[in-house]
Amino acid sequence: MTSLDEQVTKYLTDAHSIERQALVQMRGAPDIAGDPVIASAFVQHLAETEAHESLVRQRLDARGASPAVLKEIAGAVTGAGFAMFAAVQPDTPGKLVTHAYSYEHMELAAYDLLSRIAERAGDSETVRVARQILTQEQAMADRLASLFDRAVDASLREQKPDDLGEQLNKYLTDAHAIEAQALQLLGRAPKIVGESRLAAAFEEHRAGTETHQRLVEERLQARSAGASTLKDAALRLGALNWGGFFQAQPDTPAKLAGFAYAFEHLEIAAYELLARVARRAGDTDTEAVAQRILPEERAAAEKLHSLFEVATEAGLEAQGVAAR
Ligand SMILES: [Fe+2]
Ligand SMILES: [Fe+2]
Ligand SMILES: [Fe+2]
Repeated sequence: MTSLDEQVTKYLTDAHSIERQALVQMRGAPDIAGDPVIASAFVQHLAETEAHESLVRQRLDARGASPAVLKEIAGAVTGAGFAMFAAVQPDTPGKLVTHAYSYEHMELAAYDLLSRIAERAGDSETVRVARQILTQEQAMADRLASLFDRAVDASLREQKPDDLGEQLNKYLTDAHAIEAQALQLLGRAPKIVGESRLAAAFEEHRAGTETHQRLVEERLQARSAGASTLKDAALRLGALNWGGFFQAQPDTPAKLAGFAYAFEHLEIAAYELLARVARRAGDTDTEAVAQRILPEERAAAEKLHSLFEVATEAGLEAQGVAAR
């Protein structure tokens, strides 16, 4: 695909795939929410997601994208790009909210990038639709952020009080595994983006990420949850199918920026929950570590967001699309 119009169609089909996967997530979520308020947030967003899917499909129809094109792209998207969440089935309210928070930011990124491409292509109706949907994704992300406390309560409810320390070790090992994945992503990213400002942002955050991993490891060691627990964590991470997320290989600077933006929000939610569990467990050192890392993840996410325009340009250049 080389023309700007074809790029709009490509971004629209990506958005359509994302919404189709979101529908699956939204339908399953209330059953694992473990809390009526969390469940109703997902029920509300299911109705919104149905509307998003329909709006995006209408834009594709209006642009005359053929069923064959749609099928081809839908097939391709499972192997690459934005589709990393497809198989994830979180098993606790905490993981559900963490995952969904990250997913909403992936949608945010997708519509943000779509609106920029559609604007360049002069497709004002797609710009309007993308911005309209973006507002609802942002609202859902904000709702989820307001539910972190409830998610921790719901997740811990089934645990006996004596298990709180063990629960905290699990959250710490998850954080450790997520940082390990972040290091892999950030290690590859500069080569994929091939754009100096983006590459610099990734490289800069890699240094911070190494520190994060070390800080989390120190807390695990202090809590005597050493090497064997870390191995368990890696296994559990695979069992949870976060793996699908990390195996995704975004193939353009724009997708990689969107993917990394979602990833930073996975980390933000993970540390928000870790801080709360640590507080409940009375481990002030671990809580302090989470509170120290959180603003750095937020800053990394904001930095990426500020580079979406740069990423859009770099993406078009990589696809050989001339700017208008
Ligand atoms: Fe959506
Ligand atoms: Fe959404
Ligand atoms: Fe990060």
